[in-house]
Amino acid sequence: MERAANDAAGAPRHPPRDEWFSADALAQVFDASPSGMLLVSAEGLVRLANREAERLFGFAHGELRGRSVEELVPERFRGGHPAQRNGYFAAPAARAMGAGRDLYGLRRDGTEVPIEIGLNPIRAGDRTYVLAAVIDITQRKRSEDLLRGSLAEKETLLREIHHRVKNNMQVVSSLLNLQQGSIDDARYRALFEECQTRVQTMALIHEKLYAAGNLAALDAADYLRSLTHMLLRTYLPSGSPVRVDQAFAPLRLSLQTAIPVGLILHELLTNAIKHAFPSRKAGTLRVTLTAHGEGARLEVADDGAGLPPEFEVHASRGLGFRLIAALVRQLDGALHVQRGGGTCFAIDFVPAATADTTT
Ligand SMILES: Nc1ncnc2c1ncn2[C@@H]1O[C@H](COP(=O)(O)OP(=O)(O)O)[C@@H](O)[C@H]1O
Ligand SMILES: [Mg+2]
Repeated sequence: MERAANDAAGAPRHPPRDEWFSADALAQVFDASPSGMLLVSAEGLVRLANREAERLFGFAHGELRGRSVEELVPERFRGGHPAQRNGYFAAPAARAMGAGRDLYGLRRDGTEVPIEIGLNPIRAGDRTYVLAAVIDITQRKRSEDLLRGSLAEKETLLREIHHRVKNNMQVVSSLLNLQQGSIDDARYRALFEECQTRVQTMALIHEKLYAAGNLAALDAADYLRSLTHMLLRTYLPSGSPVRVDQAFAPLRLSLQTAIPVGLILHELLTNAIKHAFPSRKAGTLRVTLTAHGEGARLEVADDGAGLPPEFEVHASRGLGFRLIAALVRQLDGALHVQRGGGTCFAIDFVPAATADTTT
C-alpha cells in the first residue's frame, strides 16, 4: 500500500542514507557481490568470506571463516605465500596479485581453479586487513585455449597451403620443362624456359614462407639471394667471365610486394645476362636492394652493350618490359633507367605493410 502511494507520487523509493550504511545492509552487499571476497588478517586468517568465495573454493556457508588463507593456495605455491603476504602488509596498496602470473586457487576437494585476484588494504581501528577480490576465470581460460588452438590450426593450414601452392607451381614448371624438350626452334625453347623460371620465381616465395616461422613476411635478402642464384645457374653459361656483385638489405616483404619484386628482378636479370653480355663478353653485373627514403630500391646494373640507341623502355613491345611496367604499377613504384657505360635499372617502391606472424 505504502509503495503504491509512493509510485503514484512519482518519487523513486530510496531508503534513507543511513539505512544503506547499516551493518546489516553492507553485509548483504558484501555477500551478494559477484566476485569472491575474502577479508584476511596480517596473520593470514580469513576473517570474512562472501558466498561467491565459498562457492568458488567449495566450502559450505560459514566454513571459510577462521581458516588460514594458505589452505586456498595450491601446494606448489604455498611455501612462498606467507612471505608474499608479509610483503603486502609491509606496503599495503590497491593492486592486482601476481600480476602477469597465472594464479590458481585450491578447492576443498583438491581441484584447482584459475583465478584473478585484486588486493585492497582495509583499515579497521589500528589494524590493517587485506580485502582479496577473487574472480573465477575458468570460462575465460577455456575460450582463450580454444582461440589459441584455433589460431594454431589456422597457421598450420596456411603453412600447408604455401607448401601446396609451391608444389603446384613446381608441377607447372615441370610441364613447361617437358614441353621444351619437344621444341626444335631454340627461340621458342627460350620462351618456354623463361616462363618456367617465372613460375619458379613465384614458387620460391611460397617455399620460403613455408620454411620460415613467419607466414606473412618474407626475408627479402634471403629470397633475392636464392632467386639470383637460381637465375644465374639457369642463364649464365658456366665459366662465363661475367662477374656478379650482389647486396641485399635486411628488409621484410609481404607476399603482395614480394611477388612483383621477384618477377621484376627475373626480367631485369635475364635481360642483363642475355642482352648486355652477348658472345661471352666479360663484364660486371650488380644486383642490389637498398633502403631508399620511405621505401626500398631494387637495382640491376650492368656495364655491357647498353640498350639499342633508338630503344624506348616505355614504348617497348617486348613481353619483358610490358611485364615490368605492369609490375611496377602494381607496386605503385617508379622505374628509372640510366644509360651510358651499360645500363642501370632502378625500381623505387614502398613495401606493403606485413602482418608479422612469427611463431
Ligand atoms: N640490360 C640490357 N642491356 C642491353 N639491352 C637490353 C637490356 N635489357 C633489355 N635490353 C633490350 O631490350 C629489349 C626488350 O627486352 P624484353 O622486353 O625483356 O624482351 P626480350 O628479353 O624477350 O628480348 C631486348 O631485346 C634488348 O634488346
Ligand atoms: Mg626479357
